[in-house]
Order: sequence, then structure tokens, then C-alpha cells
Amino acid sequence: MSTVAEALNETRIREALNLPEAGVQALDTVDSTNLRLKEAARAGRVSPPFLLAAERQTAGRGRLGRRFVSPAGGLYMSLLLPWQPGRDPGALTLLSAVAVCQAIEEETGLQPRIKWVNDIFVESRKVCGILAEAGEGWAVAGIGVNLLSPPGGFPPEAGAAGALDVPADKNRLAGRIAARIFSGTARPDPEGVLAAYRERMFLTGKTVRYTEKGAEKTALVLGVSDDGGLLVREDGGEKVLRSGEVTVGSQSVSRME
Ligand code: BTN
Repeated sequence: MSTVAEALNETRIREALNLPEAGVQALDTVDSTNLRLKEAARAGRVSPPFLLAAERQTAGRGRLGRRFVSPAGGLYMSLLLPWQPGRDPGALTLLSAVAVCQAIEEETGLQPRIKWVNDIFVESRKVCGILAEAGEGWAVAGIGVNLLSPPGGFPPEAGAAGALDVPADKNRLAGRIAARIFSGTARPDPEGVLAAYRERMFLTGKTVRYTEKGAEKTALVLGVSDDGGLLVREDGGEKVLRSGEVTVGSQSVSRME
């Protein structure tokens, strides 16, 4: 194994996924795997469970309409799952974050940490972003893992982006992540997911800043509430932040959508 990322290979992804009924498609270049998979689901061309992966994206999408820089050397994948109409995709974000961490741990021995709510960090670098979106009776979990730093590094617009930069089998990683997410939605274990999420939480014990109704606030992070909000202590009282962006130090970190 080398740190040179191998090409995506549908057969090898299938081997690691081990879910014969799942559709798997690997492409070279797409605008966004989330966009392509949502379009195909709406048109009835694909049905869950389905995994779409690409070597690179020309218009990778992040939270809040931001761009997700997606050069060659990353793993960009979207999963189509059954999802109750109207159900908040927040639970899928938590499940996906845990699945990505566990798969990276198994594959590389690294110890990724979660920055509430959907960023995965190794040390001070964001190595993965997650974008969960719900449709009519289905949801898409979009996952971008930076395996290798691009020559010359990530562009400034990628912010705190970094890469695993250790030997990792891209196809096996894709299959392992998908296997965990598909099984986690077919056989839900919300308490188990929450416990695994809390164990890997990056912000617990840190002081964060956020803006509420135009006022800048400071709060100490106590952890994650049972419904996935950020539990903080502020002005001697406890509260749960469910939306808005929080920052630690000078860095913008997360937003609950
Ligand atoms: C974020 O960090 O704001 C979320 C980034 C999510 C990126 C992944 S890459 C695969 C999928 N396709 C997209 O266009 N976005 C998600």
C-alpha cells in the first residue's frame, strides 16, 4: 500500500461493502455526487441503497451553500438511503460522522475527532466534511474525505482543510463507510451512535463564541444533547444550541442545519 491514492473500482468497493442489493457506481469527474444522486433519485433512475463515488468534483457542495474543494486524491461519495418524509437529516449527519471516524480508524489507525456537527478533524486539519440532505422518502449522505494533499497544498478558500496523508485503501474505505451507514439506517441504534459521537467530540470543554440575535456570546461546551444539539454553559445556566455557527479561537467551526 502506498500513499498514492488508487483509482476507484466498483468491484473492490462492493467487496468491502458486502451488501449485494446495493447499487454502486464509480465515476471519474462529476460536478457534485450529491447533486447527481439526488437528481437520479428524483427521476426514479436509482433507488436506495445506492453509493455514487467520484475521483474529483468540479462543483463540490458544502454546508451553507459553500464550495467543497474536491481535487483528485480525495474520496467523494454520496449514499442514497430510505428516509421518512419530513424527518430532519440531522440524525444522518451524526451517524455518518461516527461511521467516517470508525472507518478511518480501522483503515489507518489515525484517531479522527468530530467538530460539531459534521466536520472530521485529524489534529488541527479538517480531513472530511459531511452534507446530509433529505428528499421525499429518501436522504443523501454526502461525504468528502481528503486522502492526499494536492501538490502545492489546498487553496486558501479550503480554510482548515488537510488530508489523511497516510496509506489508505480508498475503495475499502468507501465500502466500510457505506456499510456502517447503510446498516445504521436499516438497524438504528441512536444511543450507540450518540455515545460514539460524544467519545470523539472535539469541542467538549472548549470555550466557543456564537452570535444570537445580533449579540456575540461566549459559552463553555459541555457536550452533545440527546437530540444532537450543542449543550453549553453560559452565564451560569445551561442551554442547547441547535442552529447558528460557533467559533473556537479565531476559527469558524460548525453549524447545525
Ligand atoms: C462541508 O464541509 O461543508 C460538507 C462537505 C460535503 C462534501 C461532500 S463530497 C461528496 C458530496 N458531494 C458534494 O457535493 N458534497 C458532498
